[in-house]
Amino acid sequence: MAIELVPVPLPETADASKFANFAREVKGFDPSNFTSEQFDELKEALYKYDALLFRNIDLTPEKQYALTKAFDPASENYGHGNKQTEADKKSILHPDLKTIPRVPQVQLIGNGKVYDHEGLAEARLKHPHHKTFHKSVVNQEDEDNGITRFYRWHIDAALYNLSPPKVTTLYAVNVPKGPKQVVRYDDGTGDELAVPLGTTAFVSGRTMFELLPPELKSVAVRGQVKYAPHPYVWMAPAKAKSTGLGIESEGLEMSLDELPPWDASKQKIYPILWKNPITKELSFQVHPCGVAELIIAPLPAGANRDGAVFPDGAHLTDLKEVRELLYKMQRPAISPNLVYPHDWHEKDLVLFHNRGVLHSVVGAFKEDQVRAFHQCNLAASEEPVGPSADDVSIWA
Ligand SMILES: [Fe+2]
Repeated sequence: MAIELVPVPLPETADASKFANFAREVKGFDPSNFTSEQFDELKEALYKYDALLFRNIDLTPEKQYALTKAFDPASENYGHGNKQTEADKKSILHPDLKTIPRVPQVQLIGNGKVYDHEGLAEARLKHPHHKTFHKSVVNQEDEDNGITRFYRWHIDAALYNLSPPKVTTLYAVNVPKGPKQVVRYDDGTGDELAVPLGTTAFVSGRTMFELLPPELKSVAVRGQVKYAPHPYVWMAPAKAKSTGLGIESEGLEMSLDELPPWDASKQKIYPILWKNPITKELSFQVHPCGVAELIIAPLPAGANRDGAVFPDGAHLTDLKEVRELLYKMQRPAISPNLVYPHDWHEKDLVLFHNRGVLHSVVGAFKEDQVRAFHQCNLAASEEPVGPSADDVSIWA
């Protein structure tokens, strides 16, 4: 039986025309039991729509791992690695992840105390709160009235040594009920977005590229970002922007000689644009918090130089300058009308193309609101592919 794809329920705030190729609910596919023909159909749908929702699914950690691995059969380890290293303990991601003992590629994430869960006698989970990461915070009175923030827009990726996972699966085991919250951008635009409690917010990397004016499309197609070594340790002392889209430049990053031992050959340099393996479209895939440098190639011979930005190329190493340019390119795509804030129900499974979307944790829970999710992604067996020579000649 062919799988059926239906539009996801978009909030009133969403511009439906921008979701023509983004996010679908899948019916008629059992994530625990599928044939290779059915999987091929699912894979095509995933790369076409970048985020897929399945409702009312029963899924063991073993089956979740199997589904995730099917997208990259040669991958093996959790996206941030399976072994705890010294660097992991200093990483800002460390408190948010608890491993399922039977299936170490699957992490338990959420909020509150969870008992006797898949072999974990007791787990204390903490939903990341923007006050631990943002430079400015929502005051208590506003928070009590449901005002919140995007925590951190990101790609699921170690960005050092390991390759960014192709897909991530998120499975909702326990979803606390509560009133809606309102994300405030607090960046002078007045932008706000009403969201379900504890939503995960998604934006399309394709749209992020499409929205750019021609001179910034040219920068994007010629650009590469270099990530800091151990980026999550490096950024740990620094504070994020109020939109969760990158770091404020205050010189707070850890200096390179304070970091755990690192090897320049394991640092990641990626194209700004990643090519979709099926549609061949380009997605703007940059995890802004971890970027240290921007490298822009010169315009190709014969390209029109009128109005070009960095026509002769550039290597930007000033963090403030790097971040300002990235922010200018990425901020339009997180506007309220372009965000899909998923309204989680228990037994929802969301499968997303981690190389085609950016996503963020959102909202704040009280300690007694217990949320338990299983998350799986696998460090990929190959690196993302950047723009082709044809892409460069079209967009530069
Ligand atoms: Fe994530």
